[in-house]
Amino acid sequence: MRSVLVLHGPNLNLLGLREPGVYGTLTMQEIDTQLIELGKELGLEVCCFHSNIEGVLIDALQDARTWATGVVFNAGGYTHTSVALRDAITAIKIPVIEVHLSNVHAREDFRHKSVIAPACSGSISGLGVQSYLLGLRGLANITENKE
Ligand code: DQA
Repeated sequence: MRSVLVLHGPNLNLLGLREPGVYGTLTMQEIDTQLIELGKELGLEVCCFHSNIEGVLIDALQDARTWATGVVFNAGGYTHTSVALRDAITAIKIPVIEVHLSNVHAREDFRHKSVIAPACSGSISGLGVQSYLLGLRGLANITENKE
């Protein structure tokens, strides 16, 4: 069975409490449960991981290279700043789908730029939990035939 990593970056562990008008009321654990369920339908083993720390996220991406066929990644605020995460995505050579709950393009100017986007296979933003679920569907599609 193909395995995929769902990777959550900084502050996403506070979902549910954090600015619910922007990010919705689902917790990170509830999002993970939906992703694991969808993974079963798609024939994917979904492993979820969160860190607030840039270097730990880089370690998780590097490690994913050894066992995952791809990654669904919400890099949180690091999306807009982290050359190191972008380099890690480029280095691991497995598809990474960038996802955001909120529509980053409809928010402050500093959120309009994603440093990681050019290294990713695709980006989905603004659809709440559906951004993650569609990201997983996209990953299933582009990794079809790869065990
Ligand atoms: C986010 C958008 C980012 O700009 C922000 O820093 C986050 C969450 C989103 O899912 O909408 O932490 O990635």
